[in-house]
Amino acid sequence: MEFPFDINHLFPERFSILDQTLVAGRKTAGMPHLQANIETVIDELGRASAKAQQLPASITSASKLQSQKHQLYLLKDGESNGGRGVVVGFLKVGYKKLFLLDRQGSHVEAEPLCILDFYIAENLQRYGYGRELFDFMLQHKKLEPVLMAYDRPSPKFLSFLAKHYCLTPSVPQANNFVVFEGFFVNIAASC
Ligand code: ACO
Repeated sequence: MEFPFDINHLFPERFSILDQTLVAGRKTAGMPHLQANIETVIDELGRASAKAQQLPASITSASKLQSQKHQLYLLKDGESNGGRGVVVGFLKVGYKKLFLLDRQGSHVEAEPLCILDFYIAENLQRYGYGRELFDFMLQHKKLEPVLMAYDRPSPKFLSFLAKHYCLTPSVPQANNFVVFEGFFVNIAASC
C-alpha cells in the first residue's frame, strides 16, 4: 500500500507497534505532520480491511485506536516504491473479557488477548507476510496462538490459522469469538 509520503520516515523499523498515542516508538510532539500521516495510514488500512471482509464500517481507525487500549502491529517493506517504502499490512490485538462455552457447555469467564483485525494488502497476500507479522506479535507477546481468541475470523484467516498453526475451531460460541481446540485446557492449566 503506497502513500504520498515517505513510509520509511514515518516508520523507521520493519515492524512498528502503535498504541493509543499513535507514535510508533518516537516523539511526534512538535511534528504534527508526522502524527497526521500516521493517522492517514491507519485510516486507510482500516478501510481496506473492512472492504476485504465486506464489513459495513471500519473496525480500525486512528480515532478508535486513540480511544481503546488496543495495539496495532504494522509491517512495512522499506525497499519498495523507489525506496520510500510501502505498508504491507497490520494486525490489531487487545484484551477482552469474554464468557465462553467449554466442551461440557459450562460458561467460562476469561480475558484472553484477542485478534481484532488483520489485513495484508491485496497484491501482497499469500506471500508469507501475514505469517511474518503474526509471528512477530506472538514473539512480542510471548504467547501461543491457541491461547488467544479471534473476533469473527474470516474464511481466509481460518485457513491461515489451520495451515500455519494447525488450529481447528473448538466449541461454537454464543458470541462472535472463536477459540480453538486446546484453549480451555490451557486456561484451566493457568488457573
Ligand atoms: N483464500 C484462502 N486462503 C487464504 C487466502 C485466500 N485468498 N489468502 C491467504 N489465505 C490463507 C491460506 O491458508 C494461505 O495458504 P495457501 O496459500 O497455502 O492456501 C495462507 O493464508 C497464506 O499465508 P500468508 O501468506 O502468511 O498469509 P497472508 O499474507 O495472505 O495474510 C490474511 C493472511 C491476513 C488473512 C490475508 O489473506 C488478508 O488480509 N485477507 C483479507 C482480510 C481478512 O480476511 N482478514 C482477517 C479478518 S478476521 C480478524 O481479523 C479477526
